[in-house]
Amino acid sequence: MQTRQLGKTDLHLSVIGFGAWALGGGDYEFGWGTQDDRDSIRAIHGALDVGVNWIDTAPVYGLGRSEEVVGRAVQGIRGEVLIATKCSLVWDGDGKISNSLKRDSIVREAEESLRRLQTDYIDLYQIHWPAPDEDIEEAWEALVELKESGKIRYPAVSNFNAEQLDQVSPIHAVASLQPPYSMFRRDVEAEILPYCRDNSIGVVAYSPMQNGLLTGKFSAERAAELPEDDFRSRSPYFNSPQLEINLATVEKLQEIAQSAGHTTAQLALAWVLRRSEVTSAITGTRKPEQIKETAAAADWTLDTETIETITTLLDDRENRIANSSS
Ligand SMILES: NC(=O)c1ccc[n+]([C@@H]2O[C@H](COP(=O)([O-])OP(=O)(O)OC[C@H]3O[C@@H](n4cnc5c(N)ncnc54)[C@H](OP(=O)(O)O)[C@@H]3O)[C@@H](O)[C@H]2O)c1
Repeated sequence: MQTRQLGKTDLHLSVIGFGAWALGGGDYEFGWGTQDDRDSIRAIHGALDVGVNWIDTAPVYGLGRSEEVVGRAVQGIRGEVLIATKCSLVWDGDGKISNSLKRDSIVREAEESLRRLQTDYIDLYQIHWPAPDEDIEEAWEALVELKESGKIRYPAVSNFNAEQLDQVSPIHAVASLQPPYSMFRRDVEAEILPYCRDNSIGVVAYSPMQNGLLTGKFSAERAAELPEDDFRSRSPYFNSPQLEINLATVEKLQEIAQSAGHTTAQLALAWVLRRSEVTSAITGTRKPEQIKETAAAADWTLDTETIETITTLLDDRENRIANSSS
């Protein structure tokens, strides 16, 4: 699979990355419903087989479960795969999640991630959320300390805005930013992507298929049947009045994909990857069949006409959503 250099680092990421959020299962606030660990491990191995060379996880995904599963999957092949994880979302004995950017908390989190991942280094370590805002410099200094001690290779961030990137950059170069980016979430195009381009910061785009909605495999019935322990059952994207507008747009996207001999999921990923600022699209995967399909997006370059047709569709969707809530 094609790789792209991550910002100024010596990491070359496959353009499709493995997103391990759903591997955390359903048993916590941001769960994805039931997930079988054996499927998860087969999915990771399936991804590596088709050329994916990096995995994105986080301690909070299943309150440790996703990292543990990733750790088990990469046993014996650690050197062949790059691991990105995160810090800043912690939980108490009742599973209640909160934010901490305090130095001691981050150092402790890194130790726990290393233990769960069964490794002695993390390739890319990202501040998951910049909250509370007043502690982001303290957190960034903690990441630099972890780099100096060899526990992480590159410090990075997620969900930061340009101002916050400006704030931490003088302390240490930011390897990459992990923002949301999909056909249904285009806001980073205005400021964040150009900022990252101008400052040689890698971009690893999250939820490129809008949590599965842009795969073409969702219907009103399936959305209505999402179990309570799947956070999508509460997401506005998967509920009225947005759901109907989203599904109508996906139907049109499906026609575009099919006429080019591709699937809607592949179109969603190829669309994200059309931007040169994007290093890799972090593709959420729960089963090996899913990554087999989505990996093929890496070889599809969209032409200008297709991109323009899609822009019209997406603008129309946004207008319809704005009108539906006014
Ligand atoms: N930094 C952050 O704050 C943040 C936030 C969100 C995500 N992320 C990262 O980004 C990754 C990807 O985002 P995401 O998981 O939200 O969503 P995504 O990639 O937009 O969608 C993933 C979901 O789509 C479905 N899917 C995947 N391949 C499919 C296929 N071939 N056919 C049909 N359905 C398919 C799966 O769910 P079903 O099979 O259940 O439909 C899968 O869990 C996460 O795993 C995580 O690593 C980071």
